[in-house]
Amino acid sequence: YPAEYIRNFSIIAHIDHGKSTLADRLLEYTNTISSTGSNKQVLDKLKVERERGITVKAQTVSMFYKYKGNEYLLNLIDTPGHVDFSYEVSRSLAACQGTILLVDAAQGIQAQTVANFYLAFGEGLHIIPVLNKIDLPGADCERTIKQIESAFELDMSSILKISAKTGVNIDSILPSVIENIPPPTGIIDRPFRALLFDSWYDQYVGVVCMLGVVDGKIKKGDKITSAHSINKYEVTEVGIMHPEQVPTGYLHAGQVGYVICGMKTASEAHVGDTFHHVGQKIDELPGFQPAQSMVFAGIFPVDTNDFQRLDESITKLTLNDASVSVHKETSHALGQGWRLGFLGTLHMDVFRQRLENEYEANIIATQPTVPYRVVFKDKTTRIVRNPSDFPDSEERAFKVARLEEPMVLATMIFPEEYMGKMIELCGSRRGEQRDYVFVDETRVMMKYILPLAEVVTDFYDELKSRSSGYASFDYEDAGYEESDLVKMTVLLNHKPVDALSVILHRSQVDTVGRDWVKRLKKVIQKQLFEIVIQTALGAKIIARETIPALRKNVTAKCYGGDVSRKMKLLQKQKEGKKRMKMIGNVEIPQKAFYDFLDKK
Ligand code: GTP
Repeated sequence: YPAEYIRNFSIIAHIDHGKSTLADRLLEYTNTISSTGSNKQVLDKLKVERERGITVKAQTVSMFYKYKGNEYLLNLIDTPGHVDFSYEVSRSLAACQGTILLVDAAQGIQAQTVANFYLAFGEGLHIIPVLNKIDLPGADCERTIKQIESAFELDMSSILKISAKTGVNIDSILPSVIENIPPPTGIIDRPFRALLFDSWYDQYVGVVCMLGVVDGKIKKGDKITSAHSINKYEVTEVGIMHPEQVPTGYLHAGQVGYVICGMKTASEAHVGDTFHHVGQKIDELPGFQPAQSMVFAGIFPVDTNDFQRLDESITKLTLNDASVSVHKETSHALGQGWRLGFLGTLHMDVFRQRLENEYEANIIATQPTVPYRVVFKDKTTRIVRNPSDFPDSEERAFKVARLEEPMVLATMIFPEEYMGKMIELCGSRRGEQRDYVFVDETRVMMKYILPLAEVVTDFYDELKSRSSGYASFDYEDAGYEESDLVKMTVLLNHKPVDALSVILHRSQVDTVGRDWVKRLKKVIQKQLFEIVIQTALGAKIIARETIPALRKNVTAKCYGGDVSRKMKLLQKQKEGKKRMKMIGNVEIPQKAFYDFLDKK
């Protein structure tokens, strides 16, 4: 396939605007999958993969399509569907020359439409706007077209209006892709270089890499190397996804396909990396960034006996997901565990869900933390990923120049009547308004600078509930800003519980401090003596609750009664103790931590 008969494109859309449905329709239309019966399996398999982990994103597919007498090779490159993965999205887009901007005609443009548009625009891609769901009674094409025109200044004269569900006008999509999206420009006679934009782990062959070949040619047996890690590999298989792996023996400039080369773990396959032949000098492709964790949490087994098993499960899961960072961590309160770093909260939730569902793990996850930054007087810096690394009062007083927290630029789109509630929400989360514009007569797009720490808790849920589900939301990194940060500790009978320390903005300490002692009181059981629960900033107590002493002895009920019953009860109590943690003289079952941390 000479480059002029190749097109590399993607579909970008807000969640639920119909990206997967359109992709399925195009695959059927080009007979890549059949539209009757047997295709179901292929689709279902893809669906399962999608449900099982947003990071399992092997959705790139090559299609063949005849147009005006020529056969074209069309590569549909999928992009992850969530803001946590915006770097991966930008690398997938870098492997394309154009993209379909799919907008639900009933919903109009949403926050992710805007965010994805700018990613594609930034990559210099040709953008084809397409309205979807025109079959819906609520579809309003005129209004959606106006929104797209005013927000993106795109030429709407040849806008396509389709229904991915019913198939209306599906046949207009691929001709438009061929006519409007330029072919790849790579040169086949140049030394081989390719962009790695996706990878996944296969239990039989190891890591499978998706490459976009920019120049030259790669074939089975070639010796290749990564510009980032300088690791060397031998290509054992190369081919295209059609829709499953089909070996082709080689890939040349302009093509997109998979390469198997003996990589053992996903951590060797860095999205954004350039691959080239060993010993060949090339210019590295632009835009490489190492995966950056933005949310960290401690993970501990509920039953400490599960440590080994959980360790194996975490290793297996991270084989497939290089973007999770893993460090062992020991907590006085919770025992041995890990500090894991994720790209965002959705990424974290998915990982946790997979641990629980696929590996039946029973875990306690501590309050998530964002990477705070300590700037010292001597100008050096330290990133704090764990409250235990937060400067103590002495270090704070003598060495620290300032504390900083990561910020994001959030985009929200919603009907005008929710303006008040949205401003109130952002205000309560220490937000600062940057911009607002009307995208049409009734809908507003608002931009706010917000601390990432405020966004990773329940911001999204609050946004949805306060706007009756109508507000959409997306965000991008906006660097670090100075912040008045403190570490709040929890004390049980005056002993600190390390696993419950948390870094907060000073303005939140009172509210959180009071809330936590109340909730802890509910999950900690009465014991034979009084328990004092306190939250504190250093030596300063914020809030206090007391659990009165338990009066009755566990055996009191059967005083003078059945001795074997008494023995049984005592035995039961002893077993229960195995899963208890001593904080000073207070016994806390792991379950109490679980209940407390889970009910956020
Ligand atoms: P994610 O995979 O969750 O990011 O969503 P998506 O953008 O891939 O959307 P998906 O294709 O899963 O479609 C979301 C919902 O919209 C599904 O219930 C589809 O059946 C429905 N849908 C997609 N296209 C159309 C359409 O043209 N008309 C109607 N009425 N419904 C559609």
